[in-house]
Amino acid sequence: MGFTTKALHSKPAHKDTYGAMRFPIYQSAAFEFDHAEDLEAVFKGQKMGHVYTRSSNPSIEALELQIKAISGAFGVLATATGMAAISNLLFALLKSGDNIITTQYLFGNTLSLFQTLFSDFGVEVRFVDVNNIEEIRANIDEKSRLLFCESVSNPQLIVPDFRAIKAVLSEHHVPLVVDTTMTPWNIFDAKKHGVDVEIISATKYISGGGHVLGGLIVDNGTFEWQHHANLAPYCKKFGPNAFIARLRKETFRNLGATLTAQSAALLSLGLETLDLRVKRSCENALVVAKHLQTKSEVCHVDYPLLETSRSYENASKQFSGGGAIVTFSLADKKNAYAFLNKLKLIRRGTNIQDNKSLAIAPYHTIYAEYPEEQRLAYELNEGMIRLSVGIEDVEDLLEDIDQALFVETLEPMASEPEKSYAFDV
Ligand SMILES: Cc1ncc(COP(=O)(O)O)c(C=O)c1O
Repeated sequence: MGFTTKALHSKPAHKDTYGAMRFPIYQSAAFEFDHAEDLEAVFKGQKMGHVYTRSSNPSIEALELQIKAISGAFGVLATATGMAAISNLLFALLKSGDNIITTQYLFGNTLSLFQTLFSDFGVEVRFVDVNNIEEIRANIDEKSRLLFCESVSNPQLIVPDFRAIKAVLSEHHVPLVVDTTMTPWNIFDAKKHGVDVEIISATKYISGGGHVLGGLIVDNGTFEWQHHANLAPYCKKFGPNAFIARLRKETFRNLGATLTAQSAALLSLGLETLDLRVKRSCENALVVAKHLQTKSEVCHVDYPLLETSRSYENASKQFSGGGAIVTFSLADKKNAYAFLNKLKLIRRGTNIQDNKSLAIAPYHTIYAEYPEEQRLAYELNEGMIRLSVGIEDVEDLLEDIDQALFVETLEPMASEPEKSYAFDV
């Protein structure tokens, strides 16, 4: 079956008593049992069931099963937000004294989580160039517990070669964990490309409407957890399900970052149209990127499927769409703000992969708390715009961009902006 057919017709664990066509929202914190023995059996994991929504709930389970059906994953756990998915994963896989291999080109809050909280708890974070396999190899040791990167870094748009990374990690039994928010399953088969665990902000493409927060931890079933020092003890009890079982029965249950049943139902609805929306937004983004390349006010337009992009080779061999994000630079902050303020249709906002197109200047917002040198090292510049392209009619987007670029204060760009791209990757 195709992606959308599976999304529409995946089955919940139990048919609804009344045959409701949409799986009901189980708005209940706890669940009762007719017999004390049954309650005990569910607590002990000897019987399937839900006892308390912080750990599990039928509506959230229906979403998890739908994700399993469309992705072919081994196990799925839904969380309150994408950041909750990342923090739960880290707490489940790491102990003080361990290290992780990652890159500095990460979504700002993920970077901050690595640099602050986990460093404070005694986890060493080793930043490498994930496209330099020898550098990865040189940084792995017996305390390395995972490699974390994004399928497309946000906003630098760097795409790793996942099979090449997986090959070196396999030599050392280190799982490959990838935040695939930017490239859902219909445009990137992460499992096929060696990704062991996927982390997803469901707030983005899956929700589509930008109306709820949500996160997903997806175990593709490709990593043998008995080789992971911190999970080996759980393998004795839970076998290949050790990772998700540890999350569900310990880390996630104890940290309490639970998705709400209402959000689960809305995300489930979003999944049904995901393929249609993602394809449209990718098509629009490529048209917008090519259009921006023709504008004299604009420089360094980047989009993974532009032939001029450094990510083109990796993106075109692994993805069937380039995602929603296009980045480009105007001369400076004054020009960037004049452009942003003139936009009529495209909204000024921080989210990505909304059905609506959104624009932001990341240097002055998402990364505002970082010192200037750091922001330049992250390849940001004062005139940079991150555009998240939605599903509007593309002619309307081009018209809005053109009228916003035509501001008296906007200066044509002679060359690259002065302070950008300080570090080549
Ligand atoms: C790539 C990526 N990963 C993770 C997150 C965090 O997701 P959430 O906002 O759902 O916590 C974001 C948020 O923008 C993101 O862009």
